[in-house]
Amino acid sequence: MPKRPSDHPARTAATPISSLTLAAPPSPDTPTPLLGGLTPSQFMRRYWQKKPLLIRGAIAGVEAPLSRDALFELASSDDAESRLISRTRGRWRLDHGPFDAGMLPSVKRRDWTLLVQGVDLHDDRARALLDRFRFVPDARLDDLMISYATDGGGVGPHFDSYDVFLLQVQGTRRWRISAQRDLTLKPGLPLKVLQHFEPDEEWLLEPGDMLYLPPHIAHDGVAQGECMTCSIGFRAPSANELIGQFLYYLAERGDAAHSQAGERLYRDPNQSAVAHPAKLPDALVAELGAILARVKWTERDLVSFLGSYLSEPKPQVVFDTPERPLVEAAFVARAQAHGLRLDNKASLLYGARTYFINGEESALPRSRKWLCELADARRMEGKRFVTLSTDGSVTGLLYEWYRAGWVRVGAFP
Ligand code: SIN
Ligand code: CO
Repeated sequence: MPKRPSDHPARTAATPISSLTLAAPPSPDTPTPLLGGLTPSQFMRRYWQKKPLLIRGAIAGVEAPLSRDALFELASSDDAESRLISRTRGRWRLDHGPFDAGMLPSVKRRDWTLLVQGVDLHDDRARALLDRFRFVPDARLDDLMISYATDGGGVGPHFDSYDVFLLQVQGTRRWRISAQRDLTLKPGLPLKVLQHFEPDEEWLLEPGDMLYLPPHIAHDGVAQGECMTCSIGFRAPSANELIGQFLYYLAERGDAAHSQAGERLYRDPNQSAVAHPAKLPDALVAELGAILARVKWTERDLVSFLGSYLSEPKPQVVFDTPERPLVEAAFVARAQAHGLRLDNKASLLYGARTYFINGEESALPRSRKWLCELADARRMEGKRFVTLSTDGSVTGLLYEWYRAGWVRVGAFP
């Protein structure tokens, strides 16, 4: 069973909860230091997917969500995806976790870095940090990765296909970036390293400084002494992924090629005997074209697919159900007093008519406002819950989610 943050010995010894934890996501039209004094709306218009932005002092007094030891401990569990990248005499090496104690190089050795993905799923402070970026739709927000590096450590000059915010949370890192067109990679390496890298800008990032990079900007971050960087990453499905997954979704629902016809097997009563058995029959090719031409969908199908697909938990996610669950009346009393929140691993999205929780679609209830509020805020104050708890269908649904480990009662981080 995966460890919960509170069960994690190394994590309890981490730095105390800072103001970082309690910060709400900025509203679209309020200037914020996180974006160098821009409003999220201005940032999205001027920089998002367009050009890099360096922000000095994006988060004053920032602290690493996890201590170094807590990060190493997380990298030793198979709940989190971790990679170790090291360089010895100019040779790159990539190892995949989990890394048991003793498998990581000494912190006194230079030129290595440990990258741990999806830290937000396991740690409240990491999740709270990720929440600051929810001026971008959840459908695009992917995860918070933490990299720890010793002096000289980094992943080499490369480019990503995704937008990323690189927030320095401990120590110093030198970033160099380039808008170069040549994105050819060095052949035969275990990781993506650019063959040529011609930086056109360079900065030293101190704790609290942040660099936003749109996709395909070449970059290289090298630790100056021991350091930690948080990467807030976004996902952008390719057209191929969407086509493949949407057709799969339609087929699973039995809608492809007009519902009942979807189960019909290919028939070829007019097939003649062949002298070239290895040749694909023309009729079969034509049949595939005809099947695809009959595939129909509505906007509702698109919403259903996207909501289910994008709210699907990552494969390694396992929800922690309460060990000694409260009975429903005690759950209601506790939530009235202390409020509730979505579990860090839970995904709740909504469309015009339906909502999606962890890959499952349901009709929005008639009193839909509370559900959309919970999805947007990922939490509900006790006061708000009191106003809702006269409606048994609301408390019943939230109790079900609590039993499933999707909702936590009280204990705001
Ligand atoms: C790192 O944090 O070392 C690498 C992050 C990146 O370059 O995307
Ligand atoms: Co990168």
